[in-house]
Amino acid sequence: MIYHAKFSAFGSYAPKKIVNNFDLEKIVDTSDEWIRTRTGMFERHYTAPDEAASDLAIVAATRAIESSEVKYKDIDLIVCATISGDHPFPSTACVVQNRLGLKGFPAFDVSAGCTGFIYALETAKQFVENGSRQNVLVLGVDILTKITNWQDRNTCVLFGDGAGAAIVSRATSSDISRIIDTIIDADGSQGELLIQHAGGSRMPASHETVDKNLHTVYMEGNKIYKNAIKSMYASSTEVLRRNNLSTTDVDWVIPHQANLRIIEGLADKMKVPMNKVIVNIEKYGNTSSATIPLALDEAIRNKKVRRGDIILLTSFGAGLTWGSILARY
Ligand code: ACO
Repeated sequence: MIYHAKFSAFGSYAPKKIVNNFDLEKIVDTSDEWIRTRTGMFERHYTAPDEAASDLAIVAATRAIESSEVKYKDIDLIVCATISGDHPFPSTACVVQNRLGLKGFPAFDVSAGCTGFIYALETAKQFVENGSRQNVLVLGVDILTKITNWQDRNTCVLFGDGAGAAIVSRATSSDISRIIDTIIDADGSQGELLIQHAGGSRMPASHETVDKNLHTVYMEGNKIYKNAIKSMYASSTEVLRRNNLSTTDVDWVIPHQANLRIIEGLADKMKVPMNKVIVNIEKYGNTSSATIPLALDEAIRNKKVRRGDIILLTSFGAGLTWGSILARY
């Protein structure tokens, strides 16, 4: 029996507090002009001190489930992409399962930095296609503002918080939606370019690690920048090529929102006009594994992306990792 996976629904959520570039000018030596011209960002959403990843993920999950025909009781797997979950363990997926009042099926997290949502979707697709699961709740949630070095202007202006959710279900013959193909990849030799040094078994938490800000995001931004365009281009063109499609067949590209210049560079290399690229970076900044579901959910709600459209999702991030998904929404 051959099964196919489809997108039943999307949902998303960003916390209430909004911080703009002028607010950041008061924290570090930066300017609205620098941030806008170098990144395309203006605002981002920050969680409250008492909010954690599962709080955001639950709102996104609830919105996705309630906008679909899938009932809570029909969910039979939760895969959560995050690098800033509620705790190192248990997984945020398990926390969400419990808080949704569900049980009787597996739940686990995936760690692939900003590529996490792509990795999680590929995982869900595999479980659906092999016939073992029928409705997977896929989450992408990150709260990087809680692991940000507020003295480092190179990174602290970039990140915002958010969550997105997709329900990946078994398709029937009458469904138009289909996850057509996916490519995920990694190059661990470049892991030091984007890393949270302390808090794991390599460098357990101590007074010294806290004093030295080693629990925060360390990033060599311009080295990642070059890799970003190259890797998203490679996985996107390959996933199209092996399905005998070209960029002109794609209705919408939904790229990871890390930097507007990276997005424009990718579109230019792929020869895709910017009016076919979904961009919301000016309102959310880089929400890591939440950027793609936040952008896609917003585009669906604004009736830009419609059922039957060919969509290409692509991302890159810590690992280094990258990947692309070709789908009919
Ligand atoms: N305000 C003002 N000046 C700044 C700021 C700031 N916030 N940040 C850096 N600068 C300065 C630097 O100090 C440097 O000054 P100098 O020339 O006097 O030394 C100058 O601006 C240029 O710095 P670059 O790092 O070369 O700037 P660049 O144009 O590369 O932009 C950026 C930096 C935005 C980080 C870019 O490299 C980028 O977007 N990289 C990719 C980041 C990314 O996508 N990461 C992966 C995803 S995150 C995840 O997976 C969790």
